[in-house]
Amino acid sequence: MSEQLAIHGGKPTVPAGTIKPWPQITDADRQAVMEVLSGQSINEQRRIQAEALSQEWATYVGRKYCIPTNSGTAALHMCIAALGIEPGDEVIVPAFTFWATAAGVLHHNAIPIFVDIDPKTFCIDAAQIEGKLSERTKAVIAVHIHGMPADMDAILAVATQHGLKVIEDAAQAHGSKYKGVPCGSIGDVAGFSTQMSKTLTTGSEGGLFVTDDEDYHKQAALLQYFGELVVPGRERQEQEYNAYGLGWMYRGDVFGQAFVRSQLKRLDTNNALRIRNCNFLTEHLSKIKGIETPYVPPQCQPVYYNYVVGVKPDEVGLSISPRIFREKVQEALTAEGIHVGQWQRRPVPAQEIFQAQIGYGQGCPWTCGHAQPVEYRQEDYPNATAFIDSHFYLFDVNPPNDLDLMKLYVEAFEKVMDNLDRLVE
Ligand SMILES: Cc1ncc(COP(=O)(O)O)c(C=O)c1O
Repeated sequence: MSEQLAIHGGKPTVPAGTIKPWPQITDADRQAVMEVLSGQSINEQRRIQAEALSQEWATYVGRKYCIPTNSGTAALHMCIAALGIEPGDEVIVPAFTFWATAAGVLHHNAIPIFVDIDPKTFCIDAAQIEGKLSERTKAVIAVHIHGMPADMDAILAVATQHGLKVIEDAAQAHGSKYKGVPCGSIGDVAGFSTQMSKTLTTGSEGGLFVTDDEDYHKQAALLQYFGELVVPGRERQEQEYNAYGLGWMYRGDVFGQAFVRSQLKRLDTNNALRIRNCNFLTEHLSKIKGIETPYVPPQCQPVYYNYVVGVKPDEVGLSISPRIFREKVQEALTAEGIHVGQWQRRPVPAQEIFQAQIGYGQGCPWTCGHAQPVEYRQEDYPNATAFIDSHFYLFDVNPPNDLDLMKLYVEAFEKVMDNLDRLVE
């Protein structure tokens, strides 16, 4: 008889305290943050850190311009503003993403139009974009979800054919590559998040806007700083206190910037270690019946922000729904000491804000006179719904967690899948 599952009173496979948290904090990171405090003027440090981070991230991604922000959502809103998207304009957004991708569109009184995802990569299905275009469509947002590059050639082809701009939401894809070039360097503009969980992080909140276009850069900079062009730390010299248009307060934070610059020095090393962990998982988990491992198109080099696992009850002869099977497997793995779980619980257009179509006030931006009527029908996004029902995340694949821990993850999966008869009684 196989070993008893932890959920049934057996010994957990992964002992408590084995999994190391992210981000890994080194003495170099501590020193980088301390330098902000040990300088003569913290205001001068604001300029030094913001300018250095702009330069370093622009160089890393291969872009001319970068503006550090206080969140990825802010960076994405700046993308919308930079491209001159007007109230009532429509922007194509994948139906599966964090809803901040669509929030940036709504913040500018524009209208998100959702497109279902590809069932293998879980990024936007480029083949379905054309069917959602109208004379009001101005841009497509390609989200590199879970660090998997979206199908950029196909997206750029539709965009070129229809005169659309391309925004990359690279919030989860620092260092991911499509055909050998970094995500965030392919579209017209891109936004990254450096929030705590991300593969490049400030340890708190933050984001990065990038582009090659001087005018887009200027428009984004105006939006970031109350409608003026000001370098943080140079307010006395540069601020006119005369807004040239509606702006927000999207400045980044000096301590987070110092921290993220220090983390950036280890981004490639950390990505390589995470990719090694995930390749090991794929090699071993793919041999287990009933488990689906990530598909990686040949032109893509993902960084695995999270490791995505699918379940296939039919493959193990079970006639229960993928959702119930997933919940059972997840519960059993959690008891084995692995951190697994759900992220999004429904496709973005199924969220209340889109179903009720009330952003603010009496229903703006859908009702404030700019937009064409739009319907968000839940049944239009079957791949996003099926993905959510049948997939979960294996968290903590980040370094310093290593292959020894990945072996325990694999053992836990094998143990759970060997005991399905007791798990699904
Ligand atoms: C795909 C995606 N887009 C946008 C965001 C927004 O980033 P932030 O939380 O930094 O505003 C996130 C972050 O969670 C994300 O995962």
